[in-house]
Amino acid sequence: MNDSSQLDELLASRAAQPRRQIEPCTVVIFGASGDLTARKLIPALYHLALEKALPTPYRIIGFARREKTDESWRAELREAIGKFSRTQPVDTAVWDAFAANIRYCQADISDAAGYQKLKDIIGGFDHEKLRTNLLFYLATNPSQFGEISGHLSEVGLLRKEEGFTPDRLVVEKPFGHDLASARALNAEIIRHAHERQIFRIDHYLGKETVQNILTFRFSNGIFEHLWNRDSIDHVQITVGEKLGVGARGGYYEESGAMRDMVQNHVLQVLSLVAMEPPVSLEAENVRDEKVKLLKSIRPMTPADVAKNVVRGQYFAGEVDGEARPAYRSEPKVNAKSNVETFVAMKLLIDNWRWSGVPFYIRTGKNLPLSASEVRIQFKPAPNILFAAQSQTKLDPNSLTLRLQPNEGITLRFNGKVPGAAMELRPVRMRFSYDTEFGAYTPEAYERLLLEAIAGDATLFIRRDEVETAWGIVDAIRNSWTDKPLTNREFYLAGTWGPTAADDLLAQDGCEWRNPQPQK
Ligand code: BG6
Repeated sequence: MNDSSQLDELLASRAAQPRRQIEPCTVVIFGASGDLTARKLIPALYHLALEKALPTPYRIIGFARREKTDESWRAELREAIGKFSRTQPVDTAVWDAFAANIRYCQADISDAAGYQKLKDIIGGFDHEKLRTNLLFYLATNPSQFGEISGHLSEVGLLRKEEGFTPDRLVVEKPFGHDLASARALNAEIIRHAHERQIFRIDHYLGKETVQNILTFRFSNGIFEHLWNRDSIDHVQITVGEKLGVGARGGYYEESGAMRDMVQNHVLQVLSLVAMEPPVSLEAENVRDEKVKLLKSIRPMTPADVAKNVVRGQYFAGEVDGEARPAYRSEPKVNAKSNVETFVAMKLLIDNWRWSGVPFYIRTGKNLPLSASEVRIQFKPAPNILFAAQSQTKLDPNSLTLRLQPNEGITLRFNGKVPGAAMELRPVRMRFSYDTEFGAYTPEAYERLLLEAIAGDATLFIRRDEVETAWGIVDAIRNSWTDKPLTNREFYLAGTWGPTAADDLLAQDGCEWRNPQPQK
């Protein structure tokens, strides 16, 4: 948003909304010199300051190895905000007040003395809550989570107590690379913190539209009673990305689309679309239902995987007229790599609501559009009345939840083309967030940081949730071991994946509805 008067108006209306009381808090970021801090965390905290959503008072401490002073770190962050803040220009008065709350603790993660230094900085804060209400954000390599929490606990900054303790650990993805490593990581952290102190991030849960899935389902009378096997033919979830792996080849070789996107983001969206209504919106109740749903996904045997899961990898091609190299030619990628940059699969959910309704999910890099959508395809009406007069088959109704970009909801139904002939054609009713609420969509990290500061874990992943998701993904990945990709699993960059993904739906008499560019 560039129009500053419009921004002022929006900020004023947000400031007028009722707010939770949030206790003063100190946020310590481990991995403070990293990309995530500069691109996401600090711009998000700055926006929370801009909206006056942060508690009073608050402090932010960056913990990292590089030699820096408070002043030089602030200067770096100011530059980062100039580049990455979603609103520009940066508000100088807000920045100055924000910067005054920022400190830097230069220390090595594996050096116990660094944690004493951190404790001294925190101990010097004049407000009691700033010394006791602590949030540790681990934006580091997951292999360091255990070590950091161990050191924090040794110096008494992270207190694991039977009763309530306000200390919180926020941990970034990837949370493990399979079920065994996720369990080991959980066991390591759990030694120093209770589950209720651990906030595992999946940034999709911070997206407004992803949160709106529950609002849409459970606050509207007309859809929920259609939301089941009686009315729904199938569900399609697409999380497409236009970008290739680019400079992240090293990371991606270890992860692939299955670990990078399906285990977390795609399964999270699926669980919100398909879960039962929770008893309340409290964290444990919402997460109980999500876990129940994940547990109802039918496990796949190797034969099921061969039939119901398609991997893909991109060949050289073009996206938006721009040449893209093949995955195997990307930097730091093995020239014979079998890592998947695309996955499509059919999942079945064995519970009362969804028995027999296929959920088709797909995600990939170098697709024609960056777009995430959930499409609910309803069962077709019996074509008795119009079959004789209308040449075309009746289009089944569908409801599309557009998660990004151009966030919105579209209902598709049949209408009569004006004229004497009985000609039918699908028409659409569209709701767009921007048109309704203005183009001021908070970044996922703003919401997630605020929730973590407020101590509400609803939008974070619980231990059993992350482990159940890994169980689903492992069963599939294990059956790929030693199976090189076949020719029909490659796709040209700039297309919607390999033809095998189309065949997956065709065998059930369905076809993918690709997201369309929005005008
Ligand atoms: C990250 C993945 O978790 O999500 C990336 O590691 C992916 O590979 C990104 O590009 C997608 O997030 P978004 O918010 O751009 O849809």
